[in-house]
Amino acid sequence: MTVEVTWYGHSVALVKTKEITLLIDPFLTGNAKAPITVEDVKPDVIAITHGHADHLGDTVAIAKEHGTLCVSNFEICNYLEAQGVQNIHPLHIGGGFNFPWGRVQLTIAHHGSSLPDGSYGGSPAGLLLSFAGKTIYHAGDTGLFYDMKLIGERRLDLAMVPIGDNFTMGPDDALRAVELLEPKIVVPMHYDTFDVIEQDPNHWALQVERKTDAKVRVLAPGESVTL
Ligand code: NI
Ligand code: MN
Repeated sequence: MTVEVTWYGHSVALVKTKEITLLIDPFLTGNAKAPITVEDVKPDVIAITHGHADHLGDTVAIAKEHGTLCVSNFEICNYLEAQGVQNIHPLHIGGGFNFPWGRVQLTIAHHGSSLPDGSYGGSPAGLLLSFAGKTIYHAGDTGLFYDMKLIGERRLDLAMVPIGDNFTMGPDDALRAVELLEPKIVVPMHYDTFDVIEQDPNHWALQVERKTDAKVRVLAPGESVTL
């Protein structure tokens, strides 16, 4: 079965199989790079890596409108529940759950995670997804860490890694990340949304393809990669 992953700018990704659509970090309102709005999405599931507004994004509005299942860490799920979101599944770092449509596991990420109201968002996370025989790693916001090697041992069909620098790994560390993760395909994310994270993804792609066996797909917002 194929899995289609569409990038909507920043860290927003829509993972689609025959069975399910899962939207990651739905930062659409206020995201100048996003070619779609909240009205255009009706996902079955939303997965949130951490509490920052450029990741939590429109989660509450979408989930309340459609009754969408929200998967995130315990603290963020509690926050969502307090906002009136009813369909939640809390996980925490290292833990995963086998849903009928696939597995979602939270990985470590080195970052912060305050929520929009200033409350504690728990540890930030990355996402390891196993759907339809494919394994996808969405790193969330993070600096480089050597344990990416362990994540790579899962044999990743796709890795989505931040390259923007300033708030996350920059291009050089993201290249090291690809060396550790050894994914078949890598998609750069979390760049060009704000002035301080402007990068040249095509230059990065050349370097990555020179030094690793990963194929880099530099997507325009709204473009997809099929696994
Ligand atoms: Ni963040
Ligand atoms: Mn961010």
